Amino acid sequence: MKGNDKLLTVLNQLLADELTAISQYMVHSEMCESWGYGRLHGAIEAQAKDEMHHAEWLIQRILFLEGVPVVSKLNPIRIGKDVVEIIGTDQDAELAAVRAYNTGIRLAREVDDQSTADLLTKILKMEEGHVDWAETQRDQIEQMGLVNYLTNQTGGAAS
Ligand SMILES: [Fe+2]
Ligand SMILES: [Fe+2]
Repeated sequence: MKGNDKLLTVLNQLLADELTAISQYMVHSEMCESWGYGRLHGAIEAQAKDEMHHAEWLIQRILFLEGVPVVSKLNPIRIGKDVVEIIGTDQDAELAAVRAYNTGIRLAREVDDQSTADLLTKILKMEEGHVDWAETQRDQIEQMGLVNYLTNQTGGAAS
């Protein structure tokens, strides 16, 4: 089924966002592992896996709409130098994702592609969950102090 060209371009932009997030989160998750923060490692790794599912779903949809999925394009990757920066840069990426998915949903509805709008809505809800996770970490750091927060992150991987 041939999809709307403008919508296919937006789906490929969202795909580039997801592929960028996967790379950024994989590096961040392994940095946390190397510092001994097993719980943070597990949480960020789980998030990277969510983004991988999003990329898969976008690729499936682009193919269904007879477009060409572009997997060779990455946006600039922002690597934090410590845990606070890692959480902050990942939160920035998630807030940008929420904006981008809302824009994509509006376009999908404009061109009468309700199934694409439904898929993007499903992903949007997960991105909102990722923003919420980052906000919770920042609240905890503020309330209990960074040292206490980091002490809590040294356990085994949390899923
Ligand atoms: Fe995502
Ligand atoms: Fe996300």
